[in-house]
Amino acid sequence: MIKILITGSNGQVGAELIRIIRSSIDAEILCTDITQRTVEGDGISFEYLDVKSRELTEKIFEKFKPDQVYHLASILSASGEKDPYLAYSVNLTGTVNVLNACVKYNVDKVFVPSTIGVFGPDAPKENAPVRHSSIPTTMYGITKAAAEMLFQYYFDKYGLDVRSLRYPGLISYRVPPTAGTTDYAVDMIRHAAKNAPYICYLKEDTPLPMMYMQDAMEATIKYMHADSKNLTIRTAYNVMSYTLTPEMLYDSIKKFKPNFEVRYNPDFRQKIAESWPYSLDISDSKRDWGFSFRYDIDKTVEDMLANL
Ligand SMILES: NC(=O)c1ccc[n+]([C@@H]2O[C@H](COP(=O)([O-])OP(=O)(O)OC[C@H]3O[C@@H](n4cnc5c(N)ncnc54)[C@H](O)[C@@H]3O)[C@@H](O)[C@H]2O)c1
Repeated sequence: MIKILITGSNGQVGAELIRIIRSSIDAEILCTDITQRTVEGDGISFEYLDVKSRELTEKIFEKFKPDQVYHLASILSASGEKDPYLAYSVNLTGTVNVLNACVKYNVDKVFVPSTIGVFGPDAPKENAPVRHSSIPTTMYGITKAAAEMLFQYYFDKYGLDVRSLRYPGLISYRVPPTAGTTDYAVDMIRHAAKNAPYICYLKEDTPLPMMYMQDAMEATIKYMHADSKNLTIRTAYNVMSYTLTPEMLYDSIKKFKPNFEVRYNPDFRQKIAESWPYSLDISDSKRDWGFSFRYDIDKTVEDMLANL
């Protein structure tokens, strides 16, 4: 049985990742976060961990001795613009603390999600490549772009098997997202499920890459199982399923909820969304570790509405 440590386990991704790890791997799991939550089940425990503290991070690693780490603790794009220093501290200092602890305590593999936020407005809008020279405009994107370089550095210098996927906007129903720019998609479907009208903070024709959480988690586990020798990219791989605009999502929801209504009232997140690509080049992910997905827009909406 392998030992898996998860940071930021109480978030939107953590809630789903725990489930898929439990259903696919025989593992003892230590969940950690700065918020308290009782995690139920055999072989799962919880400890408080603020990844900004190097001392506490090392203490937890020393005690648990994980074989694998999923480092999810992060401050996302919209929250990062409200408190850029916090985003810097959690996303960079926190990530360095976790990577250092992985080296010190001989962790076999560590997964750290990256994001489409690493792209800036000068990146190609269509099929944005894995390697790019664009400059992100948010603190979230800047910290994540720098973190991607750290993954390459820790791989080259220490031989640490760091793995990363640039997630697009993730659509899921278990834990509501709190602080991203793509969260409108989840919010809109949640309102539709309650038969309530929705006011969208992005313009109706704003295209962004998206993915259903189930596909993102299956891809993550498949990628973590991939043979290290086949991985030609040590910064982060692109993944996505479809390009979505608020209007496209509205049209899909109407197929299941014909009376649903949406109004548009763009806020500061519009500018962030406009700085990101519409779609990503996923050919490296397909070639190196067999990336695939199952959910299109309608299937995503149908499954979300069935589960909310
Ligand atoms: N959700 C998405 O659509 C999306 C898209 C792209 C990338 N990602 C990436 O996936 C990862 C997880 O994101 P998420 O959606 O679960 O975010 P989230 O905001 O839902 O969860 C993040 C968790 O980190 C915890 N946290 C914050 N500061 C911390 C600290 N100092 N120490 C320890 N824990 C701390 C929070 O309490 C929270 O539970 C992040 O790296 C994020 O950049 C998410």
